[in-house]
Amino acid sequence: MGGLFSCIVADPPWEVERGPEWASNGAARPLTYPTMTVDEIAALKVPAAKDAHCYIWTINKYIEATYAIARAWGFVPSTLLTWIKAPRGIGLGGTYVLTTEHMLFCRRGTLKAKRRVDTSWWGYPRGAHSEKPEEFQTLIESVSPGPYLEMFARRGRPNWTAWGNEVPSGPLGGGGRGVSVAPAADERHNEKLTD
Ligand SMILES: C[S@@+](CC[C@H](N)C(=O)[O-])C[C@H]1O[C@@H](n2cnc3c(N)ncnc32)[C@H](O)[C@@H]1O
Repeated sequence: MGGLFSCIVADPPWEVERGPEWASNGAARPLTYPTMTVDEIAALKVPAAKDAHCYIWTINKYIEATYAIARAWGFVPSTLLTWIKAPRGIGLGGTYVLTTEHMLFCRRGTLKAKRRVDTSWWGYPRGAHSEKPEEFQTLIESVSPGPYLEMFARRGRPNWTAWGNEVPSGPLGGGGRGVSVAPAADERHNEKLTD
C-alpha cells in the first residue's frame, strides 16, 4: 500500500446476518462475503499518520466494540455520526427494527478539520446490501484532509486508496488486497453538500 494516511474510512465485515427477504416472514440470510471477529479487526495494522482522522462504520451490536477497535488502532473516539434509512421489509433487529447505521469519527494527534459541520445525522437512500452512500465519502473529503484510505472497500474512488478483498492487488494484512486509485477530475469534489 505504501505511505501513511491522514484520513481512513473503514467498513468492517462484522459478524452479522442479513435480514429476511423483503415482505417475507422468512429466516435471516447469510452474508455474501467473509466476516472478521472483533479481535481480528482490532489486530489490523492500520497505516495512519501521526495526525489523522478515522471513520469506522458500525452497527448497533458492535458500537461498544467499535470504540475499543478505534483505541486499538491508536485513535481517540470523538463523535458518533448517524445514517438514517427508511424502513425496508422486516429488517434486522429485535423489538426495534434497525433503520440507522453509525460511523464513529475518531482522531489522533492534532489534525485540524477543514470545516465545522452543523449536524451529526444524514438521511440517504439505501443501496445494495451493506453498501454505504457515496455521499459520506464526499462529506468526509470536505471535512478531513487526505491522503485518503478506504478499508474494506468494494469500489475505487478518485484520490482514495481502496483496500479490501473485493478490490485488486497490494496486501495490508488480514487477507485483504488494495489498489491505489489515481487522482482524476471528479465532479463530486465540487458538489454542494446536502447535509
Ligand atoms: C461491509 S462490507 C464493505 C461495504 C462497502 N463499504 C460498500 O459500501 O460497498 C465489508 C467488506 O470487507 C471484505 N472483507 C471481508 N474479510 C476481509 C479481509 N479479511 N480482508 C479484507 N477485506 C475483507 C468483504 O468482502 C466486504 O467487501
